[in-house]
Amino acid sequence: MNTKIVTIQGQGDAFSDEEERALQEAGEILRGGGLVAFPTETVYGLGGDAFNPASARKIYAAKGRPSDNPLIVHIARLEDMDRVAGQVPEAARQLGRAFWPGPLTMVLPRARNVPVEITGGLETVAVRMPSHPVARSLIACGGGYIAAPSANLSGRPSPTSARYVIEDMDGRIDMIIDGGDGEIGLESTIVDLTVDPPQILRPGFITQEMLAEVLGRVSLDRTVLDADSGQAPRAPGMKYRHYAPRGEMTIVSGQTAEVTAYVNAHAAQDCAQGHKVGVIGTDETLPEYRADLVCSLGSRRDEESIARHLYGILRRFDDEQVTRIYSECFDTMGLGQAIMNRLLKAAGHRLVVLSGNRER
Ligand code: TXA
Ligand code: MG
Repeated sequence: MNTKIVTIQGQGDAFSDEEERALQEAGEILRGGGLVAFPTETVYGLGGDAFNPASARKIYAAKGRPSDNPLIVHIARLEDMDRVAGQVPEAARQLGRAFWPGPLTMVLPRARNVPVEITGGLETVAVRMPSHPVARSLIACGGGYIAAPSANLSGRPSPTSARYVIEDMDGRIDMIIDGGDGEIGLESTIVDLTVDPPQILRPGFITQEMLAEVLGRVSLDRTVLDADSGQAPRAPGMKYRHYAPRGEMTIVSGQTAEVTAYVNAHAAQDCAQGHKVGVIGTDETLPEYRADLVCSLGSRRDEESIARHLYGILRRFDDEQVTRIYSECFDTMGLGQAIMNRLLKAAGHRLVVLSGNRER
């Protein structure tokens, strides 16, 4: 298949005539049952018409993703959640008013007419209203209800830039819209409103603290940060070893000096055994590391930078065929909860704790 690649940057909510035409064309592709990858404020999505079961099947095929893993329905207007959800609890409307459009996905009881291909056979449906202007216009042009997983091949990090989408999806889908780099860089927060208290299934930019301010109590699926809880994650997709780099990854926690010493010693050993070693550090520690490839996520004080750069670095390590990876550890409060969740998953929960009191 020939994949058309178009650039739509826009100026805020305004688009040039050419961009408008490209959006119309993308909308026609979606309404005709085709697939379009598009930017959102989190990561790029791979969109298809949510009410067309054939589109959902194409999405699974393009990603190489198991079809029991449900898709998020993306909408462009608050009131549209009533068509996808069978019943909308008051808490969902409150969250919608507080955080939509934005990086929050709500799990709600599904409406009867939502195809089983979208929900993976569950009685619930995931809904999100993204804030990215290109995403919002595309959803409207495409009929209002766009199913969209992250636009990566299954098992690769979610794409934070169009060039990664092209790497994974060129030749597999109808169109890719290049709208620049993702602002957030990690997938949306998923909160399940069909349980009491509501539960976070996947942490993201909208933090547990922010949700608690609106909802009162919010719990966290134990599997988010805990490997040996022995439970299956409640978001089916979280059970797969997503975000997995090809190299074996270890997270190292402790005081800065111990962490750099540990990493350097192990990197030297690994190198001697013929490994190519990558280190994920921060601006503060970067000069201390000795390895084949040392990358910074940004300043340790800037969690948004850390979130934004993580997937790009993991992809770079894959591209450069790094076989061993060491990463620093981060706080699990606020946005750190999402960062540590993705890091732990990438590392298959391999965490070395050198001491309890980590320097911040
Ligand atoms: O930021 C995002 O959410 C991005 C952009 C494109 O919007 N999308 C995204 O989709 O990350 P995906 O398919 O890669 O991840 C969706 C996650 C999966 O782990 C899936 O199992 C879970 O949401 N999910 C979907 N429907 C669900 C449901 N009804 N109950 C529980 N988990 C659900
Ligand atoms: Mg994904």
